[in-house]
Amino acid sequence: MKHKNMNIEPETDNGLVIQAKDIVKTFYIGQPNELEILHGMTFNVPKGQFVSIVGQSGSGKSTLMNIIGALDRPTSGNYLLDGVDVSRLKDKELSEIRNLKIGFVFQTFNLVSRTSALKNVELPLLYAGYSASERKQRARELLEIVEMSEREQHMPSELSGGQKQRVAIARAMANDPAIILADEPTGALDSRTGRMVMDLFHKLHDEQGKTIVLITHNNELAAETDRIITISDGNIISDSEETARDAAPPELLRKKPYVYVDPHASGRAQDETAADAPEEPKAPQTGTPQGNAAQGIPQGIPHAAVEGGVK
Ligand SMILES: Nc1ncnc2c1ncn2[C@@H]1O[C@H](COP(=O)(O)OP(=O)(O)OP(=O)(O)O)[C@@H](O)[C@H]1O
Ligand SMILES: [Mg+2]
Repeated sequence: MKHKNMNIEPETDNGLVIQAKDIVKTFYIGQPNELEILHGMTFNVPKGQFVSIVGQSGSGKSTLMNIIGALDRPTSGNYLLDGVDVSRLKDKELSEIRNLKIGFVFQTFNLVSRTSALKNVELPLLYAGYSASERKQRARELLEIVEMSEREQHMPSELSGGQKQRVAIARAMANDPAIILADEPTGALDSRTGRMVMDLFHKLHDEQGKTIVLITHNNELAAETDRIITISDGNIISDSEETARDAAPPELLRKKPYVYVDPHASGRAQDETAADAPEEPKAPQTGTPQGNAAQGIPQGIPHAAVEGGVK
């Protein structure tokens, strides 16, 4: 399926969907204090890999996910998403690349509450500029893949947790993203339902060659994936595929690091992670190009509402 709004051309196509080099993330918690949370992470993810990122609570998984998902920018370091240097993008392009290249799946599903399963899946397509009939057709195909066709007219409140997550996965797939980025997608589900969700990820990976980044603290689920990156206290302490690291061509990594200082950030004002966010975000305003709620991105994640958020 061809993206209609795509004007962001990759600088390179070397088969790596994530090229992260020396990623540092610092939060400013009021002058003069700053807290370095990620201390320089380097890793690459090739297209088609199912990789898990594991680590204890507070180790920096969601902070890293926000950077991988272009919801936040590193304080320093370089990040190329599917060949595109996200630090060089304007606000509008950033939300566009997010809508087209990342399919988010959150622990708390984050479906738009007063909208049917079908319409939820259609939302990212709406922001990508597809017509009503194209949207409906594509959304129906996706609901079939996740075996939710019979529930297409159900509201989220009429669905079980596992069913909601399947709809959220269908929504994540809508624009055929380069990466499905899932932060504790089974965390709110019982083990049997979590198993079904995990099987669905395997199906998308095996049958459709999807690149999946699974963030979890469940080592058993992680062990099912192609590769495990373990983080602790903001450092990568092991990577089952060390060879993929540092594979990025040096010419792409020579650019001046982007440094972002948010003068308004104070304390934990921005700290609402996906897991803490309310289950049902507000429906997107008609006509806005960003479509954050359309992707299930909770309010409160840095730069999720990009209007004026990125300097
Ligand atoms: N906006 C912020 N300001 C200050 N500190 C923050 C902010 N966001 C996150 N942190 C801190 O960064 C660390 C990593 O948080 P993060 O949410 O990335 O952890 P996590 O590995 O996802 O944990 P969990 O498994 O509980 O979801 C924590 O110590 C957290 O308190
Ligand atoms: Mg987290």
